[in-house]
Amino acid sequence: MKSYLFKNASELVTPKGTALKKGEEMRELTVIPNGCVITEGNRIKAVGGPEILQGLDEAEYIVIDCTGKTIMPGLVDSHTHFIFGGYRAEEFNWRLNGESYISIMERGGGIVASTKATRATSLDEFLEVGRKRLRSFANFGVTTVEGKSGYGLDKETELRQLEAMARLNQEDWIRIVPTYMGPHEIPAEFKGRPDDYIDFCLNEVLPEVKERGLATFCDIFTEKGVFNIEQSRKFLTAAREAGFGIRMHADELFAGFGGAELAGELKVTSADHLLKISEEGIKAMRDNNVCGTLLPLTAFSIKADYAPARKMVDMGMGVALATDLNPGSCYSESIPLLIALSTIYMGLRMEEVVTALTLNGAAALGLAEEKGSLEAGKLADIAVFDVPNHQFLTYHFGVNECVYTMSEGREVYRKQDIF
Ligand code: NIG
Ligand code: FE
Repeated sequence: MKSYLFKNASELVTPKGTALKKGEEMRELTVIPNGCVITEGNRIKAVGGPEILQGLDEAEYIVIDCTGKTIMPGLVDSHTHFIFGGYRAEEFNWRLNGESYISIMERGGGIVASTKATRATSLDEFLEVGRKRLRSFANFGVTTVEGKSGYGLDKETELRQLEAMARLNQEDWIRIVPTYMGPHEIPAEFKGRPDDYIDFCLNEVLPEVKERGLATFCDIFTEKGVFNIEQSRKFLTAAREAGFGIRMHADELFAGFGGAELAGELKVTSADHLLKISEEGIKAMRDNNVCGTLLPLTAFSIKADYAPARKMVDMGMGVALATDLNPGSCYSESIPLLIALSTIYMGLRMEEVVTALTLNGAAALGLAEEKGSLEAGKLADIAVFDVPNHQFLTYHFGVNECVYTMSEGREVYRKQDIF
């Protein structure tokens, strides 16, 4: 693997550390003018100003001249459902015409509609569409992406979704962190029997997921009308005992359900959405070091109120930001739009957004020791943006300024004619 030299950046910006940043720590960034990074194999060897280039024979490196540009850690998209079959464009139009996400769900649209299409999708088709979506992530500067099953719901399709992610991981592109999310919805076969479905997930599917090493995490949709607190506690506890990391979809649609409180009680790695989180929930997550992964593109898409990000950070919680790319509530992987929403509508500062999309995203996936910051020894995940400093990423809103992406020492995106 070739070694790289990034130099002359007008700004190099990064959080530092190996764990979730909470509250005001999220604003602590290291900013280096005239920034440089040297890689060796798949790792970062040195980070600093031009002094790190002294005595170096540049001819031995692939040189990326970042004049006028900003270098950041590769972005982490810590919540997506990027392997699915079919689309639900018509539902999107129903929503534009005034129907709510919940009412569409209640009349058999929503996840259940995607389940039908996903069951009919072959492994090869997952791979083909998966590659396309990964390429799109890489073009935004994303070097690590979490991906969930949960659109098959039956054993065969859930395993096929996970198998697709395992194969894509072997293609040495951007890193995929796979999550088994059988309890994403109650399938028609188990209608009215959520407890039986949880048992099915735990007894029939999970052992094979484990045996084949197909998932790092397990996830559940804890919500009124889907899985309640007791079912969630049972599933997550058993998944942890089986050796998986655990995470949740919590407090997305209804207030007072107690998802975030359960996240704190179980000390899950991350609880996500949190549009309706209570103050008690914020405290429970903060005090137990649970990352809150916020998904502004979803709130935008379903026209819901955004998660109270400002309040969370002011109360000392650590948050990450992710896209939630999925066929229903959020068919978008747009990092520029995500940044605009999280600053303009959620009140996060750009410094906090940088941490949320890098180190805290890595922490939300249990990878903060290896990823999420530009520091010697970490994996070489690097994104270059054609802006003079990180403030421009929200100032020039909605526009993709990423021009170069490196994932674990591999070049995965280079904008034509820019270098
Ligand atoms: O994360 N909230 C639940 N699951 C997905 C939406 C799934 C869908 O509408 O297909 C989410 O937003
Ligand atoms: Fe989701």
